[in-house]
Amino acid sequence: MKKHNGFASSLGFVLASAGSAVGLGNIWGFPYKTGANGGAAFVLVYILMALLLGIVGMTVEMYVGKRAQANPVTAVKKINSKIGFVGLLSVIVPFFIICYYSVLGGYTMRGIVSSFTDIGKDAAGVSAGLSDFMANPWLPALCTFLFLGLAVFIIMGGVQKGIEKASKVLMPLLFIILLGVMIYSLCLGEGVKAGLDFYILKADFKALGFKGVAAAMGQVFFSMSLGMGIMITYGSYTGKEINLFKSAVQISLIDTAIALMAGFAIFPAAFHFMEVEGIAASEVGLGGFALMFMTLPLVFNSLGTVGGIIGAFFFLMVTIAAITSVVSLVEVVTQFFIQKFRISRKRAAVLPMILALAISIPVSLSLGGHFTLFGFDLLTFFDEITNTVLMPVTALCVCVAAGFGIKRREFEDNIYVGKPIVGRIISFMARFVTPLLILVVAIFGIYSNVSVNVNYFAVINTAFLLAAVAFAVYFLSLVRVGDTDTGCNADELGYEGDADPADAAE
Ligand code: PFF
Repeated sequence: MKKHNGFASSLGFVLASAGSAVGLGNIWGFPYKTGANGGAAFVLVYILMALLLGIVGMTVEMYVGKRAQANPVTAVKKINSKIGFVGLLSVIVPFFIICYYSVLGGYTMRGIVSSFTDIGKDAAGVSAGLSDFMANPWLPALCTFLFLGLAVFIIMGGVQKGIEKASKVLMPLLFIILLGVMIYSLCLGEGVKAGLDFYILKADFKALGFKGVAAAMGQVFFSMSLGMGIMITYGSYTGKEINLFKSAVQISLIDTAIALMAGFAIFPAAFHFMEVEGIAASEVGLGGFALMFMTLPLVFNSLGTVGGIIGAFFFLMVTIAAITSVVSLVEVVTQFFIQKFRISRKRAAVLPMILALAISIPVSLSLGGHFTLFGFDLLTFFDEITNTVLMPVTALCVCVAAGFGIKRREFEDNIYVGKPIVGRIISFMARFVTPLLILVVAIFGIYSNVSVNVNYFAVINTAFLLAAVAFAVYFLSLVRVGDTDTGCNADELGYEGDADPADAAE
């Protein structure tokens, strides 16, 4: 019998958390948001935000989970039961992300196959292939189902045998493939210099604006899996032997390095393609959803059979990254369901998957152009609700709750055992610097979004409606102090491996 049902080693914890952090956010989101917001200027602000907000936020969230050894609702309740609804919001947000993330995961899986089937087609054929796929009412949903199914399969294996084991194999594989594609892309010759200028050498702050700064902040939260319970859940699976601050720094470095590498893989290739084909940047769509799904396949395709094979590897790598990320999203909901409803891990993993699949079908239909909501496709709508509003709000609340609600001494002594000065710095940042920065950027970001598009009010209202629902549900049914009704990790203990009582009884 194991001592605790958490991660077996520090390396396993770091790799699993990096597996959560590194995903479509790094390889799809980061490059296209860089493309949309002034290239190098966005990269610079992103790195600053990662240092000021990301590392602090991650350390704090991990500590909140580790201290409680429980799901996010119980963990926040243990700081102060009046603000436990923030914990519930941290479980609801991942659920909404699963609904659109899996659709993108399905698109990515299609990319593996289409890289081969596109070989020999001309550019118009490649574009038409993707458009047909998007417009098809069934195929994207089927790919979404396959993608989610793979993730749930891993989760059912439990923390050590499923999540940790998969991450230890998949993460290094991903790194090697990305490195290969990056080197290949940097060696393409023509256009590479222009790509590098745009990406890291010439910062255009006018194109960035406040909207871009807010986008960089949202991207930091999304990419580092913050503001949504993940690091609370993963932190709850750690024991005394794990140094939280060091782990957070390592995970942030890996996450940022992979995002930067993705940019180095994509921009030189995209600019090479533009120069060789004589196409303008505005036509290629450097700053949109399509950068990874449409522009990149065009680039690979223009390189002939070798390009097709590289493209297939590329999409395989992105699928791997996306699976370990969606695993972490499902795990938050799974852990909460197991502990709150005392159901088996299997049931607790399948339940959110069925719900998410049901919601992901309209998301994929909307992305295919079948309908819009307030002028947005559902993916953008969900993405905006979570990235620009709910994640910053949740991260801010958790920082403030932990900074002011946990005894200062206890907080400082546990962030880096033996070096309380690190704890003191993080505690100061969590109380004053990080929340203020989040608040200012979020407010200006929302303001500049609304001033360009009034429909953005719908995004904000829906986000606050969700927060109100979390608030009401919490106070109506989950508010009891401690873990008496919302459970903790120990409830899953005492059985062989990660199996649980329901399995044994079946
Ligand atoms: N961080 C992941 C990425 O960058 O793709 C996505 C993600 C995982 C977002 C887990 C949110 C999350 F809770």
